[in-house]
Amino acid sequence: MGRGIEGGCWCAIVILCALVSGSATSNDGDKCELYQGRWVYDESYPMYDSSKCPHIRKEYDCIKYGRPDRSYLNFRWQPDHCNLPRFDAENFLRKMSGKKIMYIGDSISLNQWQSMVCLLHAALPPQSIITTETVNSTTTVKFEDFGVSISMFLSHYLVDIVEEKYGRVLKLDSITDGDVWKQNDVLIFNTWLWWYRVGEKQPWDYIKIGTRIMKDMDRMVAFREALKTWANWVNLDVNTERTKVFFQGVSPSHYNGADWNMTGVTNCAKEMLPIKGSMYSGGIPLAEKVVEQVLSGVRKQVSLLNITRLSQLRKDAHPSSFNAFRGMDCTHWCVSGVPDTWNQLLAAALV
Ligand SMILES: *[C@@H]1O[C@H](CO)[C@@H](O)[C@H](O)[C@H]1NC(C)=O
Ligand SMILES: *[C@@H]1O[C@H](CO)[C@@H](O)[C@H](O)[C@H]1NC(C)=O
Ligand SMILES: *[C@@H]1O[C@H](CO)[C@@H](O)[C@H](O)[C@H]1NC(C)=O
Repeated sequence: MGRGIEGGCWCAIVILCALVSGSATSNDGDKCELYQGRWVYDESYPMYDSSKCPHIRKEYDCIKYGRPDRSYLNFRWQPDHCNLPRFDAENFLRKMSGKKIMYIGDSISLNQWQSMVCLLHAALPPQSIITTETVNSTTTVKFEDFGVSISMFLSHYLVDIVEEKYGRVLKLDSITDGDVWKQNDVLIFNTWLWWYRVGEKQPWDYIKIGTRIMKDMDRMVAFREALKTWANWVNLDVNTERTKVFFQGVSPSHYNGADWNMTGVTNCAKEMLPIKGSMYSGGIPLAEKVVEQVLSGVRKQVSLLNITRLSQLRKDAHPSSFNAFRGMDCTHWCVSGVPDTWNQLLAAALV
């Protein structure tokens, strides 16, 4: 079922090396990049039954809201020259014992956070004590038996939005929530979805850098400025000896069929299978390049959770209309689904 003995043993070595260097070289000279690979059918997936995971957000609970096809659940990420270990919840909780993990970002972070809660929940006996608490912008699920907490801090832009007399101001050079974030042991950041919002969906009236206040500006430039503020905060304020920092690559949407050689298709409604192989016509989005450029300038240890390409190949794994509001959603991801793989990659980097 996917994990040959040879592959498994070799993978253990590769993962050890990968922890040290970020990648490794196999004996035939090929690099083991966990992010370079393809999706393969594997009936031992998904790793949990979503109907047994409590409180999946109604936007992500595809099966509950009537998704009839199931094969999208049976795909496993297969790196080209090594294997990605299956998520081992008990081992994860033991290794992370006493630690606080926080996802920070928009609803894509929430998507991944819910997947992590489900992955852990599914592996524990029913008598385990799991508590949930919401304080200010943070919701924390605590696995009391291991003292592990998994939090979600909702922040659409990472940088601040402040109410001033003249309106709501998006301050590109200010990141005051960082004081809460840095108290955790593992941080996983993401922001992108909200940067091009306009009109009623735009939750600010002015944009500010330094003393300059503007009605609007080039949004990609604004995004880059905010990421630079974030990078500067990491450099100045985060003790990366104690706190491991990840930034999640841009999560792709599927509204343009030309991206997967289906010109004229405008959503993911009919998609029931991943793209075969590793090639994607759509290319890597500019925003992802901006993320990678800014990350490469951070002096401290930060890791890219490089999920863009592997997620681009999963045009089949969005809710489409199988959510509580029946709107077409080719942006978020079904839970169980692709965010489980993001968490497998996170776990591979952590334990
Ligand atoms: C991210 O992964 C893709 C393959 O999925 C690879 O081509 C790219 O170089 C990686 N980016 C970084 C910055 O490691
Ligand atoms: C929640 O927000 C209030 C008001 O900003 C603040 O005083 C309080 O310290 C916050 N609580 C936590 C646990 O951060
Ligand atoms: C899409 O079309 C291009 C050009 O014809 C081809 O090279 C590529 O393999 C196709 N991709 C898929 C996923 O079929």
